[in-house]
Order: sequence, then structure tokens, then C-alpha cells
Amino acid sequence: MSTTLFLCLFSTTYFYTEISAFVHSLETTPIPSTSPFINIELDKISNAFLTTEEHERLAGKVFKHRMAEFINRIVLNETQTIIGLSELRSALGFAPSEVWKKRQPPSEEEVDAAPTVEAYYMLKEPISKHQRSNQDEFLPELIPLAVTFLDERFPGIRKVYRRYLEEKFRSLGGKIDKKGVDYMIYEFARIQTRVGHATFLLT
Ligand SMILES: *[C@@H]1O[C@H](CO)[C@@H](O)[C@H](O)[C@H]1NC(C)=O
Repeated sequence: MSTTLFLCLFSTTYFYTEISAFVHSLETTPIPSTSPFINIELDKISNAFLTTEEHERLAGKVFKHRMAEFINRIVLNETQTIIGLSELRSALGFAPSEVWKKRQPPSEEEVDAAPTVEAYYMLKEPISKHQRSNQDEFLPELIPLAVTFLDERFPGIRKVYRRYLEEKFRSLGGKIDKKGVDYMIYEFARIQTRVGHATFLLT
């Protein structure tokens, strides 16, 4: 896809509003404490530096230099989330998936009618703003490569999610029902915010 087409699809005003809201939340949200392992891994990520070449690779070699850095704020966040969701599914004992798809939230009736705990999870799995949006058409293509890139360059992302979510899952004592799924999704959101802060600092 051409850069011009990308610019047509993507509103910069919308983007800047989002970033300033995020930076504001960085200043106001207290960071919950967790094990030293998680803090060390997250520090390694936030203290790292991505070269221009790496930024362009992460952006699928479609976007150059500043443009690549610019869209990588979204690519990084969506990709670290997909890695995290894959670890969440695996902690819950469900089949992992690393596919980033456009998706709309389910209706309340659908959620209430979920026949199994796994079906319930699939309906309740967090959906990002970009997955709901009918813009950002470049993302579905870029995410699979970005998952590979992050797994190689920052294996700590997956390790942090795995360690954190397995620990939370153990605290459920092996009982996995719909309430347990809600609890795990809540804990997922907490660690996702922390990983998101660390990867945001790469851009
Ligand atoms: C990352 O994604 C999450 C969930 O989709 C969102 O709440 C958060 O604001 C995003 N962070 C940035 C820097 O865009």
C-alpha cells in the first residue's frame, strides 16, 4: 500500500489526540508492583532502542523512516497485545491464535448464550480500537511479521505475559469458569498496560 493511500486512510489529528491521552495516563496512573523478573524484563524493553532499519522492518518495509516510526506506535501496541492474548489463551488452556482481525464486540445476548467457558472467552476477548475501526487497513498485513520481529528482538514481552498470567491463573486454583475468565481478562488488561508503556518508549 502506498504512503499516500495510508495518509488518506488515517487521520493524524485522531492519532495525536490518542497519544496525548496516553501520555497523560502515564503521568497519572500508579504502576502496580510485581515480581522483580517482570520489572527487569520491562526495563530492558523500555531502555532499548530501535534503529531506523528496525523501524522500517517492523513497519513491513512499506513505510520509510519517520513514517515507519509514526505508525509503529500503533503496530507495536497492537502486536504486543496479540502476543499477550496468545499467552492468555494458553494460560487458560485454550488454543492460541496469533491472528489480528477486524472484529466488533458481541451483543449481550450472545455473551449470555455462550455454551462453553471457551466460547465465552472468545466472545469476551478484548478488542482494540483499531480492530473495531474500519480504517487502519494496513494493520492486518503488518501484524504477523511484527509478531515474529518482537519475538526475536524482545522475547521478554512474551515471557512477561506468560509469567504474569500463569501466576494469576494458578491463584484460581485450577478452577476455570466464566468468572475466572473475567478475572483473567482483568489481569490481562493490567499487564497489557505495563507492557504497552514499555513498548511505547521504543518509539
Ligand atoms: C494500546 O492499546 C490499548 C488497548 O487496545 C489502549 O488502551 C492503549 O491506549 C494503547 N496505547 C497506545 C500508546 O496507543
